[in-house]
Amino acid sequence: MKACDTKSGDSRATPVSETIQTVLSLFPGVGLLDRAFEEREEFSVVRGPDLIHGGDIRNFRVAAGVYGGIIAGPPCQGFSQANAHRFNPQHPSVRNSVEMLELTVRLIEAARPTWFLIENVPNVPDVRVGPYIVQRIAINDWECGGLQLRWRAIQFGHIEGWHLRPSRVNDRSFSRKKGRRPEAITTKPTSRHMTFAEQCRRQGLSEPVSLPGWTREAKFRAVGNGVPLSVGRVLAAAVAECVSPANENDCLCGCGRSVSGPRQRSATAACRKRLQMRREAAAKFGSPNHDFAEMADQRSSI
Ligand SMILES: C[S@@+](CC[C@H](N)C(=O)[O-])C[C@H]1O[C@@H](n2cnc3c(N)ncnc32)[C@H](O)[C@@H]1O
Ligand SMILES: [Zn+2]
Repeated sequence: MKACDTKSGDSRATPVSETIQTVLSLFPGVGLLDRAFEEREEFSVVRGPDLIHGGDIRNFRVAAGVYGGIIAGPPCQGFSQANAHRFNPQHPSVRNSVEMLELTVRLIEAARPTWFLIENVPNVPDVRVGPYIVQRIAINDWECGGLQLRWRAIQFGHIEGWHLRPSRVNDRSFSRKKGRRPEAITTKPTSRHMTFAEQCRRQGLSEPVSLPGWTREAKFRAVGNGVPLSVGRVLAAAVAECVSPANENDCLCGCGRSVSGPRQRSATAACRKRLQMRREAAAKFGSPNHDFAEMADQRSSI
């Protein structure tokens, strides 16, 4: 097991027994993504403010050089496919999501961690963060051994360009017709039969989160907004085990999969499509500086 820490300037991995990384969690919510990192001996997670606990990130100052990593789940409502106003930059939901994403970038630049991981919805704009090389990964709970098909966009940045290689347990064999049926999750208790315990189970929790005094709606929203535990665990393991930049065995789209042969550049049909879309967007909007974050695609950049 290796820790992803290159602060010493040594590009070899540091044994975990010698290094516990302090990880700052921004927009922690009820801490589902945090749990996955807390389960691992490599990380010690500390939390920034969250509105649901009475804190506002706009009042938060971050210390430089203290954190090995930053994990962040800024609010996604403004970018969500389900938001009819998502193309209106003046809409409050869009303005808020953009502001919070920009703030996340500024805090990462100020804190200068070795790595950061931002979780959001697929329509989130690409982030450009100081000197970091940013890898964009599409991942869902089902691929990670969980129950849901909802896609997440992960933007992982590493100061030395180390590459995240998430280990997807259901990769490529995915089919709606095969095996278990995926289960939906919402941030609202749409059916009165749906219990909070069931909502938590679908997020991968063996026991309901204890939120005494919270309304049913608030509990559903907070847990529904969280990162499913299976996804969090796959990401935390990938961060703990990340040791090197991308190489010729890595899919060029940045998904973290390996390619099967020396002449292959992409791992799956979806990867090829992603690359094609980026090429088209690069031709339209200007040429990219490097393969991942700066490959302009149909999203805007922050
Ligand atoms: C997507 S949720 C985070 C979920 C979390 N990563 C998890 O896995 O449980 C986004 C969070 O951002 C918080 N938030 C939104 N605006 C905020 C602000 N101005 N300051 C602090 N927190 C804020 C919301 O209360 C919400 O809990
Ligand atoms: Zn790929």
